[in-house]
Amino acid sequence: MKLTFKTKAILVVAFFNALLASAVVNAAPPDALAGQAKAQICFACHSENGLSISSDIPNLAAQPPLSIFYQLIQFRGQQRKGGGMEAVTMTLSDQDMRDIAAYYSALPPPPAKSANVDKIVKGQQIAGAQYCNSCHGPELQGQKHIARLAGQSPEYVTTQLKNIRSGARIDMDGTMGSAARGLSDEDIEALATYAASLN
Ligand code: HEC
Ligand code: HEC
Repeated sequence: MKLTFKTKAILVVAFFNALLASAVVNAAPPDALAGQAKAQICFACHSENGLSISSDIPNLAAQPPLSIFYQLIQFRGQQRKGGGMEAVTMTLSDQDMRDIAAYYSALPPPPAKSANVDKIVKGQQIAGAQYCNSCHGPELQGQKHIARLAGQSPEYVTTQLKNIRSGARIDMDGTMGSAARGLSDEDIEALATYAASLN
């Protein structure tokens, strides 16, 4: 095959683009086993099985890896503060965070929590009307960079929704801020109860 100058130029450009792209993404793939070792310092609060030791600490089991990763990045950068997480993340590299995220995301999800049925149904209705499922997934199991709410501690979810509503917790792209703005305290309580009732 005889190449014209133009095709050669295109091939050269394509080659350098590929080189550039590989330099950008040459981070090692996430390693859940390495993550387990690196997560030792987290177990005191989030446990080895990802089910946290108290209701003000979030469960991490089965959280989408990107969600864990971005939250850790935000704590390290101090865009998000709370629970001493800024200090915990200070010495973690991006690769540490990817590995730890791979570890926790692969664990079985938290068990569903039973509660008053009327409140669960009310929460489900609000979630439908407010399109929470369109971002957090049909069963609120989370996706991509968006947190799993299913099986999450209701106290934790309530605190976060109030903090996001007031602006005390800044969200990465503003979408969650708008979603929380119109919620009453009662709505938030019902939503948190509904989310906890899912598995
Ligand atoms: C001393 C207890 C403690 C330790 C140790 C700790 N955490 Fe946390 N973590 C918390 C608390 C409390 C929160 C909730 C912070 C808030 O109120 O916003 C949290 C929040 C998080 C979140 C946000 C979850 C979400 O759904 O948004 C992630 C991710 C997280 N921690 C990961 C880790 C990792 C990884 C480690 C170990 C490197 C770790 N934590 C160590 C107490 C702890
Ligand atoms: C347009 C997409 C979108 C919609 C709709 C949405 N969320 Fe979110 N939600 C997000 C994103 C993105 C985050 C992560 C925010 C951040 O920390 O930057 C988030 C975070 C949260 C958190 C914090 C979770 C944690 O683990 O810390 C809660 C709780 C939450 N959302 C509940 C809800 C509820 C309840 C609804 C419906 C009223 C809702 N969301 C609707 C995108 C959305």
